[in-house]
Amino acid sequence: MRPKITVIGSVNMDLISMTTKVPLPGETIIGSGFMTQPGGKGANQAVAAARLGAEVTMIGCVGDDAFGSELLTQLKKETIFWPNVEPVTGLSTGVAQITVSKEDNSIIVIPGANDALTPEILERFENIIAESDIILLQMEIPLQTVVKAAELADKHLVRVILNPAPAQKLPSELLNLIHYLTPNEHEVMQLTNVKAGANLLDVFNEITATVVLTKGVEGVYYQNENNLVNIPSYKVKAIDTTGAGDAFNGGFAYAIATGHSLPQACKFANAVAALNVLKRGAQQGLPTLSEVEVFMQSQQEEIRH
Ligand code: RIB
Ligand code: NA
Repeated sequence: MRPKITVIGSVNMDLISMTTKVPLPGETIIGSGFMTQPGGKGANQAVAAARLGAEVTMIGCVGDDAFGSELLTQLKKETIFWPNVEPVTGLSTGVAQITVSKEDNSIIVIPGANDALTPEILERFENIIAESDIILLQMEIPLQTVVKAAELADKHLVRVILNPAPAQKLPSELLNLIHYLTPNEHEVMQLTNVKAGANLLDVFNEITATVVLTKGVEGVYYQNENNLVNIPSYKVKAIDTTGAGDAFNGGFAYAIATGHSLPQACKFANAVAALNVLKRGAQQGLPTLSEVEVFMQSQQEEIRH
């Protein structure tokens, strides 16, 4: 059966500039290329889960501009159901200004209409939340809306995955309603009040949710009693790591919703992320379920030989 995953989060148009070096403050340089691509952590994770075969609903807001209608057309093509059909008048659709260089990516997000996703809007879609197998959240919409989503999920006994990106401190009333938390290494240290330099197990122990820490090429870590267990990443030649975390989260949500164990879900999500970094943009490389299966199989064989 297809799992029902509801994503409550951001939709952005990504404005991507390619450059060989990153400009210093005050410096102007000539870049090597430009493209626009659908993005936003919420939409990326929704597309990831939908391509794998989940029945995905996304609750979000776009502005009444060209980017907004283009992004909604795109989501529809991915068979994602978008119940909040009215665009927000007077606000621009969210955009992300992304600089892709050899060293790394840097991103400026202008939330625009994403900030108009209020707790009141969610209340209108309580039945959709109630009927979901998993609610998948990120932090590119207002905090009160994320809290409301977690409360409504809790009311209907629906499991919640929170990808706490971009990094910020989160209130314990929110953390206590989350079942799975998927920070990266920057985000994890900001989640709680632990002091800088505290060890990871202390942070994990403070949080009731199952924490899955994503650490790029190292793979991911989760806690098993007093040990950290590492699920290594698949080694691929990355073209563009934008959206790798989103691919992981969409894959993880799909795997948890379909009953995989925690280590299996991490492995599966690592494969989704590995395939996504092989193509430019946050969504272009997101694989179908059979692509993931073929990839995981081929990696197994490589290990055996
Ligand atoms: O996680 C990557 C995403 O972050 C990009 O698609 C961009 O829109 C920003 O929200
Ligand atoms: Na990519």
